[in-house]
Amino acid sequence: MSSTTLPALDADRLRADFPVFEELVGGKPVAYLDSASSTQKPRQVLDRMRAFYEHEYANVHRGVYRLAERATEGFEAARRTVAGLLNAPSEKEVVFTRSATEAINLVAYAWGLDNLGPGDVVVITELEHHANFVPWQYIAQRTGASFRHIPIDDNGELRLDSLDAFAAEGNVKVVASNLVSNTLGTINPVETLAAWAHEQGAIMVVDAAQAAPHRRVDVQALGADFVAISSHKLCGPSGVGALWGRRELLEAMSPFNLGGEMIRSVGFDKTTFNELPHKFEAGTPAIAEAVGFGAAIDYVTAIGLEAIERHEHVLVEQAMAALDEIPWIRVFGPPPERRAGIVSFDVEGIHPHDVAQVLDWEGIAVRAGHHCTQPLMTRLGVAATTRASFYLYSIPEEIDRLIAGLHKVKASLG
Ligand SMILES: Cc1ncc(COP(=O)(O)O)c(C=O)c1O
Repeated sequence: MSSTTLPALDADRLRADFPVFEELVGGKPVAYLDSASSTQKPRQVLDRMRAFYEHEYANVHRGVYRLAERATEGFEAARRTVAGLLNAPSEKEVVFTRSATEAINLVAYAWGLDNLGPGDVVVITELEHHANFVPWQYIAQRTGASFRHIPIDDNGELRLDSLDAFAAEGNVKVVASNLVSNTLGTINPVETLAAWAHEQGAIMVVDAAQAAPHRRVDVQALGADFVAISSHKLCGPSGVGALWGRRELLEAMSPFNLGGEMIRSVGFDKTTFNELPHKFEAGTPAIAEAVGFGAAIDYVTAIGLEAIERHEHVLVEQAMAALDEIPWIRVFGPPPERRAGIVSFDVEGIHPHDVAQVLDWEGIAVRAGHHCTQPLMTRLGVAATTRASFYLYSIPEEIDRLIAGLHKVKASLG
């Protein structure tokens, strides 16, 4: 079937699932163009969490009573749903975390502290979110490993010709990259990086926070060793994320957080640890949030990740074509076919915070700042950008409003 005959996503209909779109901000409906930061939540997710609290709630994995069994079943069903989303070989390889950030910290601490040392090299990219940058920089410094980055070219694409130099420098032990850049939208060649990482004997850590909500992520096809994702960027609640890790690596790793639930037995002389995935889930988890995360995945996959990807592509083409027509706007990053639904740009002579402020008066919500990618800002030669990002509920009219809003910005501040 050609892509034109595939069913398109009906964003206007889907918007009815999101109570926030009934809201007026300053008397105007909000044009929410900040989904890369966090997504809005559909009723299906909110209802599932409410039903869970009302009918199924207790602490998990502890009680012998039936309500606790129900809660545990809801929580573990969500884990199976995450495993399905990522095509993980086993749900035991899925660890619930607080966020994608915590998932990456888990790997950096629990794997990095035991496996890195002087002579080793950790390779990240110039367009990494701080979540996949700072933990590796910190653990590299603590262990004496070198910390290197893959530079980008002027289109915002990774320069893979730089890889050989890292291999010449020492034992490459970690390659960490995002699958989709949260600032430029670039879709990074993670399969190629993973193959190269494995040739070096390194692990491949993939930050899929910005990918999993928008396109199919298959941990096996990527050839990854660890993949981090986040619920709040996928129509789910905040406070929960997940780490998928290859079983043999997770099994060999020391725990990250210590306390209840992650133990098998505790004595004054010795503590032994629980089996996967519980070894990495100390304390009471975000139970209802995990259930909401599962409901969000069900919601998004029922729409279809391919349909979402195509929808965002149409929007990003529309946005980039319109922005390209404006001589005082500079768009950063690759052409539409090489990016997800994210567009970062500079409005000549006007600070992004001022741009976002004037747009807000028009009811348009965009993000202004460094987007937790300060090293990338340095590379681009700017302190900040304005970023518009799209999701399954974004509609062409919102891009029209953005463009009209930018002309108002120019007229009032330019
Ligand atoms: C690429 C990327 N990685 C990681 C994160 C952090 O995710 P979380 O908010 O779940 O910690 C973000 C959030 O902006 C992101 O865009």
